[in-house]
Amino acid sequence: MLVYLNGDWIPAESARVSVFDRGFIFGDSVYEVIPVYGHRPFREAAHLARLKASMAAAGMDERLGPVHWPAVCARLAETLQSGDGILYLQVTRGAAPRQHGFPVNAPLTLFAYARPRVSEPAGSAAHEVTAIVCDDIRWGRCDIKTTSLIANVLLVQEALTRGADEALLIRDGRVNEGAVSNVFAVCDGQLRTAARSHLILGGITRDVVLELAAQLGISVLECAPSRDELTGAQEVLITSSGREVAAVTHIDGRPVGNGRPGPVFDRLHTAFQAFKEDVRMGRRA
Ligand code: PDD
Repeated sequence: MLVYLNGDWIPAESARVSVFDRGFIFGDSVYEVIPVYGHRPFREAAHLARLKASMAAAGMDERLGPVHWPAVCARLAETLQSGDGILYLQVTRGAAPRQHGFPVNAPLTLFAYARPRVSEPAGSAAHEVTAIVCDDIRWGRCDIKTTSLIANVLLVQEALTRGADEALLIRDGRVNEGAVSNVFAVCDGQLRTAARSHLILGGITRDVVLELAAQLGISVLECAPSRDELTGAQEVLITSSGREVAAVTHIDGRPVGNGRPGPVFDRLHTAFQAFKEDVRMGRRA
């Protein structure tokens, strides 16, 4: 597998980053995950705009690491044998003697690779997940897509240890998002999800689902559901580049609704699959 590192294309086994890289030392680094369907990156412009926004919020100077990401993405997407997969892009503040303050003029570290989509169970189970509810122990800038992910790592591990797939995160009594996904609840027939703020990552899949909901005439309220609204919801969904749109069938071991994906999920999932097919065929970006 060839990876992109600082302008070069290198076999993954021989790609090397300094032990003094600030991504390694401080988690001083941002990233993107871009799905690919039929060799075509999904919503590439939005993902690259979010990477730029993460870099700006982290005070990273793009001039210290010039790169034409669309060309890198296109080349990586070409390498995916089945045509479907995930692109991973990472930018760190570079290698420098360990001091918290920004180094002067250290070149950014630029890294990217592609991997095939992990094969999923056939049939509807591929889009069914279970979740637990946890306190949101993360920092206050969840809108920055940073690789400083130890809180998310601990939360996902807690979910796995308890036999679930995802942790839904509560802050000030409200469910803002998941450890690796955005969260939607269907309450009284209305689709509820947290509004964009510093408390959530503005998911690209979330945006697509909101567009599809509008097209399908599903009423949406961008206001994070309370914990009680979540547990009493008719349906709960999560979205991410990896899972696309998935139905949460159980929370803390208790069924959501009747414990099966519901009608709002079915409509959004079907629409998302059609959208994806259009991307795969080059009918839309
Ligand atoms: N993460 N919120 C969090 C905390 C996430 O980590 C993710 C996705 C999302 C969904 O964003 P998007 O729809 O743009 O993928 C929301 C990726 C997939 C990851 O870290 O692997």
